[in-house]
Amino acid sequence: MTDLASSVPESAPPGKPTSASRTTLSHIMTHSDTNLLGTVHGGVIMKLVDDAAGAVAGRHSEGPAVTASMDEMVFLEPVRVGDLVHVKAQVNWTGRTSMEVGVRVLAERWNESTPPTQVGTAYLVFAAVNAEGKPRPVPPVVPETERDERRYQEAQIRRTHRLARRRAIKELRDRRAAEGLND
Ligand SMILES: CC(C)(COP(=O)(O)OP(=O)(O)OC[C@H]1O[C@@H](n2cnc3c(N)ncnc32)[C@H](O)[C@@H]1OP(=O)(O)O)[C@@H](O)C(=O)NCCC(=O)NCCS
Repeated sequence: MTDLASSVPESAPPGKPTSASRTTLSHIMTHSDTNLLGTVHGGVIMKLVDDAAGAVAGRHSEGPAVTASMDEMVFLEPVRVGDLVHVKAQVNWTGRTSMEVGVRVLAERWNESTPPTQVGTAYLVFAAVNAEGKPRPVPPVVPETERDERRYQEAQIRRTHRLARRRAIKELRDRRAAEGLND
């Protein structure tokens, strides 16, 4: 008997609003999170960023998604022991099989009711993958607010620059290889 499900080509699923997958991950920083200077290690924040973005990508694409790239991770302020860190992530933009996830990192003292300050931002690209680890189509994200729309447009600019940079570097390497410059 023919397995119809496996013979149907993977096509783009219907669109999903930004709010359907928006996620916040919160964590209190302790002494085990510090670097040699006594502030929180940047890698600890990057792990939280990747975790939150991965949850968003998985929710949006309704299945496994892997980090393809992480760029523009900016640390604006040091994070300290005793800070309650909130990592807020949402899908900014979708391609055919990839998604750009935008992340904002906020910190507030765990036991004070002062407003949180923004301590970092990051943009990550996730690719949705199937059981064989091959890219699979993702639902188009549907921006809901003016802010979502601005983020969508900005993500398109970053996408254009990422592709142009990759292409330019590949062309340079190909040219050097053609000249016999093997490094
Ligand atoms: C990411 C991965 C699935 C891409 O596979 P691939 O065979 O190169 O597939 P494609 O070239 O078709 O890329 C798939 C999508 O990802 C995007 N993409 C791939 N590499 C990218 C990169 N470095 N930066 C941004 N986007 C990227 C492509 O533009 C494409 O998007 P689109 O379909 O929306 O246009 C593959 O490289 C992989 O599995 N990498 C390892 C991921 C991983 O393990 N991450 C965790 C590290 S511990």
